[in-house]
Amino acid sequence: MKIPVSKPLFSGKELEYVTDCMKTGWVSSGGKYIEEFENGFSKYLNAKHSITACNGTAALHLALLSLGIEKGDEVILPNFTMIASANSIVYTGAKPVFVDVEPRTWNIDVDKIEEKITKDTKAIMAVHIFGHPCDMDPILKIANEHGISVVEDAAESIGAEYKGKIVGCLGDVGAFSFYGNKIITTGEGGMVVTNNEETAERIKAFKNHWFDKDRTFIHKNIGFNYRMTNIQAAIGLAQLENIEKHIKIKRDIVQTYNNLLKEVDGVRTPIEEKWAKSVFWMYAVLIQDSFGKDKDVVRKELEKLGVETRLLFAPMNSQPSFAFLGDSNNYPVSEELYKRGFYLPSGLQIDDKEIQYVADSIKNIRLS
Ligand SMILES: Cc1ncc(COP(=O)(O)O)c(C=O)c1O
Repeated sequence: MKIPVSKPLFSGKELEYVTDCMKTGWVSSGGKYIEEFENGFSKYLNAKHSITACNGTAALHLALLSLGIEKGDEVILPNFTMIASANSIVYTGAKPVFVDVEPRTWNIDVDKIEEKITKDTKAIMAVHIFGHPCDMDPILKIANEHGISVVEDAAESIGAEYKGKIVGCLGDVGAFSFYGNKIITTGEGGMVVTNNEETAERIKAFKNHWFDKDRTFIHKNIGFNYRMTNIQAAIGLAQLENIEKHIKIKRDIVQTYNNLLKEVDGVRTPIEEKWAKSVFWMYAVLIQDSFGKDKDVVRKELEKLGVETRLLFAPMNSQPSFAFLGDSNNYPVSEELYKRGFYLPSGLQIDDKEIQYVADSIKNIRLS
């Protein structure tokens, strides 16, 4: 038995749409699927503007650029996130400022945001981590009081809901990822969303070398090539048509795992706040002392049994690449997650038998 952490699911019209791209010759960033995917995404999110990008990191970069974030600015974000969140801030020349996360959902600790706000703070990046939405009301309130923007990094949380509202459009601008292990995939890919017309125009301009609509090959600003291809959008559209199915699969995986693991002492399983609908990007656990073995031992044993796992993200402040920030503050929750956590196989193609095998393996490791 070999169970990978994740495998994408293509159960719709992906092949049909991609074949159409080949047949019609629309393989670069022109073609009908770009528009259909963007329009479909806007409809799904109830957003005014959705703009495709070549990946989630580029989408985040575009989101920040569209708000005018630049050198000398500071952007607040959680210390527990994937490196792309922080890197996108560094790309603009701004400084990432870290805040620890809270121990239940692993999202930014809203009570610790204000102490990090300075005169240079321009935005808060709310990262909806592992499929679970951030507590957005206090974040939006703080941002409003201080006159700063809110960027949502919803890379892992497509379809998640905060108090009944889908994430991505709750702040000023949101970014999504369609990497192969995400809720829907385009291979590599991303999307930027906003309800603001002017922000949308800036995103489109930055995404495509700031081409001038009226004067071809005259460029007022330095832009990027962050375009998605029609082929990626074709896959994305087919995936979007099945998004509810994907989210249901993710939520069912959690139910099954939680039932099987609830009696196992020392395994902390994922939670969902009352006000939240999580899409449970991956099934992540923490190994507590009462398990009797540390997480590295558990992972090694699982590997021997053919069960692939992945560590949780290492704290941003301790990244060698961010040594230049000189941030030696303590972030106990982020550190704890790195010390104790990993995620189990929980991709869209896993079946109940495999989940049972993984859970049994964990129980046996505990007893061995
Ligand atoms: C929280 C978070 N932000 C941003 C990204 C970047 O997305 P991409 O890999 O598509 O560039 C990822 C994931 O991969 C992520 O998990």
